[in-house]
Amino acid sequence: MSTTYKRTLVTSALPYANGPVHIGHLAGCYLPSDIFVRYKRSKGEDVMFICGSDEHGVPITIKAKKEGVSPQDVVDKYHKMMGDSFKEFGISFDIYSRTSNKIHHETASDFFKVLYDKGGFTEEITEQYYDEEAKQFLADRYITGTCPKCANPNAYGDQCEKCGSTLSATELIDPKSTLSGAKPVLKETKNWFLPLDKLQPKIQAYLDQHKDWKTNVYGQCKSWLDSGDGLQPRAMTRDLDWGVPVPVKGAEGKVLYVWFDAPIGYISATKELRPNDWELYWKDKETRLIHFIGKDNIVFHCIIFPAMLMEHGDFILADNVPANEFFKFRRR
Ligand code: 2FM
Ligand code: ZN
Repeated sequence: MSTTYKRTLVTSALPYANGPVHIGHLAGCYLPSDIFVRYKRSKGEDVMFICGSDEHGVPITIKAKKEGVSPQDVVDKYHKMMGDSFKEFGISFDIYSRTSNKIHHETASDFFKVLYDKGGFTEEITEQYYDEEAKQFLADRYITGTCPKCANPNAYGDQCEKCGSTLSATELIDPKSTLSGAKPVLKETKNWFLPLDKLQPKIQAYLDQHKDWKTNVYGQCKSWLDSGDGLQPRAMTRDLDWGVPVPVKGAEGKVLYVWFDAPIGYISATKELRPNDWELYWKDKETRLIHFIGKDNIVFHCIIFPAMLMEHGDFILADNVPANEFFKFRRR
């Protein structure tokens, strides 16, 4: 949409703090956003450039277990490494924050609470694999077994890396917990879901205003909305002990889904940088919000995060979401 804006808020996808920054990520996301921001600054425009480390989620807990350290140790190491790399490459973020810090935990927790109090979630009981020896629910990546499609004996509960099939853990033949080696059992658990099915008309109306987005971005969103039964409710909490605790009674041992808290990281980083006027950047209609991301993150930035912001109320929504392929370099 062509509107006149007073200021621009640019976010760059928060990289996971479980490895170094790739040159492909720099080329696909951080360099394009940096160029855009420098151009705006050179014209004397009011622009803010936000990034930080995404420090929650299952892969970080797996890495910590493998290395015999705590998840906090893992994210401390890679947050520093990535922050240093961005500096060395000259990426000019106004802030490079992190999602394990206090301001982020408070912001994400409060955000969840607002949605919860408005009745913005549905509670659903589902059956999840549970390890009776380790006494914990198992994220899909903690389960291995035989792929039902190609018989690879080392498939994961979410994917078979041999044939590339997307799986659900219950499809695995002869599943095993990677924590104890035990055969996991199905156990009921309650989680909170964002009813994307009910929100579909609002999301559709938002996307209809942005047919000018890059073809790959708009096209991917459209295929989500148009596929089969359309959008489906999606769990925003997980049975896991690393992340932002779910701030609700009866949710002990559960944390916010990493894709719920990570984009809120953009808000908490803005708050950290500008405690007194951060709201101008997130709530004023004269602010233009732009998310630079890699193409794997399209659905989260164009559908799920806007749905969260709409349900919360008060917030502006992204005016553009440029998503690039993360370039891959191969040796010939
Ligand atoms: O794909 C990734 O690397 C994610 N950590 C991106 C998160 S972007 C935002 F939501 F924080
Ligand atoms: Zn397979």
